[in-house]
Formats: sequence, structure tokens, C-alpha cells
Amino acid sequence: MTDRKKVTLPDLQKKMADGIPITMITCYDYSMAHLVEQAEVDMVLVGDSLGMTMLGYDGTLPVTMDDMMRHTQAVRRGTPSSWLIGDMPYMSYQPSDETAVRNAGRFMAETGCDSVKLEGGRQMASRLRAIAEAGIPVMGHLGLTPQSVSALGGFRVQGKGWEQAARIVEDAQILEEAGAFSILFEMIPDRVQQIITERAKIPIISLGSGPQAHGQLLIFHDMFGLYPRFKPKMAKVYGNAGEVILNGLKQYVAEVTGKQFPQPDNWFGMKEDQLADLKRWLEEEGRRP
Ligand code: KIV
Repeated sequence: MTDRKKVTLPDLQKKMADGIPITMITCYDYSMAHLVEQAEVDMVLVGDSLGMTMLGYDGTLPVTMDDMMRHTQAVRRGTPSSWLIGDMPYMSYQPSDETAVRNAGRFMAETGCDSVKLEGGRQMASRLRAIAEAGIPVMGHLGLTPQSVSALGGFRVQGKGWEQAARIVEDAQILEEAGAFSILFEMIPDRVQQIITERAKIPIISLGSGPQAHGQLLIFHDMFGLYPRFKPKMAKVYGNAGEVILNGLKQYVAEVTGKQFPQPDNWFGMKEDQLADLKRWLEEEGRRP
């Protein structure tokens, strides 16, 4: 662990005010979180993208609150000092304001996270407001919102035409007024992101939406070659951990097959006198009728 002090909302607001970019990454389990903690990333999102990266689903819709609880608890144990965000899964907030507050409360009480995130613009503003009014910091998510991917016509850039862009700009304003502590924009054009950032009084985070935001988010598995199905254009690969692991696995299979593994360093012995006693006991046992 590091001796970094806990990241707070005022810390994030100060970074924004001082023009220091905020760092954010997704994370899904304890060992990843332990690394993220050492790198001193500001904000960590336990995204429902874990449905794809960790559970192998085609999308995020099958992810449940129980899935999210288990992974968020593990991440909190690995990164005690980051600002931790639990991602509200499909249908954990859409049905009603009350459902939204109950499930956001579950995240806070059962996982130790600092805040939650939900997807959607004006149509979800009352859910976001209800959560914020319950005293729970809540992040909005606009642009490409994977839980609505069917309605959006696929994983594509949002707001390329001026009318859709204007709607996103308005939605940002509505979520800010509803009490969002921050808003994440996924796959909108950089110029639209710039307009929103200039108007916002809360931290604006970009995922594939350009450099003008107050902070950047990347998906852990995309950064390290760990998601086998595709690499989105917006992701940058910082290291190919997938290749390192695969090479290690191939070597392991070859060494076990070739009887080069294990070596004495990899097993545990016992004292000769104890072994002699054990053998004596076995002989006596063998003589018993
Ligand atoms: O689930 C997730 O990781 C997300 C990001 C794509 C923003 O919501």
C-alpha cells in the first residue's frame, strides 16, 4: 500500500480548479486495484464493463447488483485511498427513484465506495437528483451509454451532428443542476467535449472524447492487452500483459510436460528423522491384520 492520503471530492475539485488533469481508470478485482493504488490514480470506476472483461458476456446488461457488490468490495480492499465509484448496473436505477436510492445506498453501505455512477441524460435526471439528495455523490454518464446500446444503434460516436450534440450539451447542464458531482463523456467529438468542459462547474471526464476535459478515463483491460475480442480506437495500449501471461502459460505447460517444473525451490521437504518415523509407522500399519 502507499501512504497517500484518501482522495476526497474537494481534492478532485481543486485539481479541476488548478487545471491539473484528473486520472481515472476502471478496475475489477483486488490484484488490479493493488497496482492502481500504487500508481496513485485519482478515481477508480468498478464499471459494469466487468460483465465483458471479467465475466465474458457480450455486453453489460446481464450484470447484477450482486456481481457489482462482490467486485467493488474487492477493489476497495486493494485501493483504500482512491476515490472509488460503483457503476449502477442495468435496471438497478431505471425503474424508479426509490429503486435508484436503495441500490445506490447498497453500494455505499456494503462496498465502502465513495460514489456511484449511472447512465443517461434528462430522462434519468430525477434518479440522479434523488440519489444526490440522499447524500450520495453521483456521477453522470453521457454520450455512448452502453446500457442503451440497442437504442443507440450500436457502439458508435454520439453527437456528430449539431442537433444531437446540442442535446448532449443540454443534458450535461441538466445533470449538473440535478446534483451530479462529475460527468463522464464516452465517445463524443472533442469539440463538443470542449464546449461542455468550458461551461461546466463540475469535473468533466473523457473516455475517447478528447483532451479538453478535466480528466481522462481508460478501461484497464484495453490498456494492457487483456480483452481478447477487440481493442477500441480510443484505447491506448500501455503494455501487453496479455502477451506476457500467455507466454508464461505456454512455458509452464512445456516445463510440466518436460518435467522441468517443479524444482526444489517450488516444493516443501521434511526432516529426515520425521520421514524415518513415518516410514516405520507405515511398516507397522502394513503388518496389522
Ligand atoms: O462500465 C464501464 O466501465 C463504464 C465505462 C465504459 C465508462 O461505464
